[in-house]
Amino acid sequence: MIPKYYEFFNPVKILSGHKALDNIPYELEQLGVKKPLIITDKGIKKAGLLKYVKRAFAESNTIIGSIYDDVPSDSSLETVYKIVKIFKDNSCDSIIAVGGGSVIDTAKGVNILITEDSNDLMKFAGAEILKNPMKPLIVIPTTSGTGSEVTLVAVISDEKNNTKMAFTSLHLLPRVAILDTRMTLTLPAHITAATGMDALTHAIEAYTCIQKNPISDAHAWMAIKLISENLITAVKKGKDKKARLALLNASCMAGAAFSNSMVGMVHSLGHATGGICHIHHGVAMSIFLPYVLEYNLIKIREYISELLFPLAGNEIYSKTSEGQRAEKVIECINNLRDELYKLTKLPRTLKEAGISKEKIPEIAKLAIGDGSLTFNPVDMDYEDAIKVLNKAYK
Ligand SMILES: [Fe+2]
Repeated sequence: MIPKYYEFFNPVKILSGHKALDNIPYELEQLGVKKPLIITDKGIKKAGLLKYVKRAFAESNTIIGSIYDDVPSDSSLETVYKIVKIFKDNSCDSIIAVGGGSVIDTAKGVNILITEDSNDLMKFAGAEILKNPMKPLIVIPTTSGTGSEVTLVAVISDEKNNTKMAFTSLHLLPRVAILDTRMTLTLPAHITAATGMDALTHAIEAYTCIQKNPISDAHAWMAIKLISENLITAVKKGKDKKARLALLNASCMAGAAFSNSMVGMVHSLGHATGGICHIHHGVAMSIFLPYVLEYNLIKIREYISELLFPLAGNEIYSKTSEGQRAEKVIECINNLRDELYKLTKLPRTLKEAGISKEKIPEIAKLAIGDGSLTFNPVDMDYEDAIKVLNKAYK
């Protein structure tokens, strides 16, 4: 069904391939810049991934302005200020982010301050506060989960005030996203599993939440198909280039889908659990996904049923009666979680994640105030949240 009105926006140029990042100099030239600052973290440096980026510059006229390789795992305000100084001191004119969600969000935060010529990031927190086009940002993801290379959001932690600030603006969208297989070949199995489940959740929530539309559906649909066909292979055989490229494409498409359709209750519960118990975002997604689908069944059985095709393939879809397809989708997701538990010990319940049952009321309270809930097809009050959390605990 096509909504009466909707918008879809994704202007990010995507390069995908086993050696896609070799084209960086050309892309910088196209963007009219020639001295990028590279932002990354210690893990990427240690894994030797920067050599591919440096090599891409070796035979070109473009030079690397500077490299900052110490972004913490939770993007921080202090780091953003530090990097802004490096950008200015080296007269850089663009940014290349090489990393996962934290690095990409940090790069977006740096870009805000450079563009606005300000030293107070807090001033720009919120939705659509930013009015000016930013410096060119190229993003090279090193995980297949967040989809941040095509989203208009950045979340930066303010450690001093113990809060997280969210920034949303069309101007935060990167100019180019480079999906290069070499950047995820060494990703450990348990991170591959957790980030893959995050991407799967983005796609499923984009397809089932109230802001869904035909274009986000198309992105979400293909993302689900690629994840279901390739996640287990990538977890078992990390160096499988085909599976890695498929997952990079899937998380990118899921990102484009949810950046337009938004996410729902899995993320509300996940944000709250992550905030209180500090578990990995992808782990939280994996824990809540089947329970939230069960909860939402009452309103969106049809949409959930449709997902059996990309999730399980033609044969299982055809064999399953129409009335049973939604339940079969939940069963497939549970089977996938069991397999990932077997392979990487990815927790399937709050208990397996080591979360104390006493935390449930606190998580429920925080979850019902989370913004993502606005887009969930079914409302959730405190009592409902407690029920779902109890189910997800066992
Ligand atoms: Fe997510």
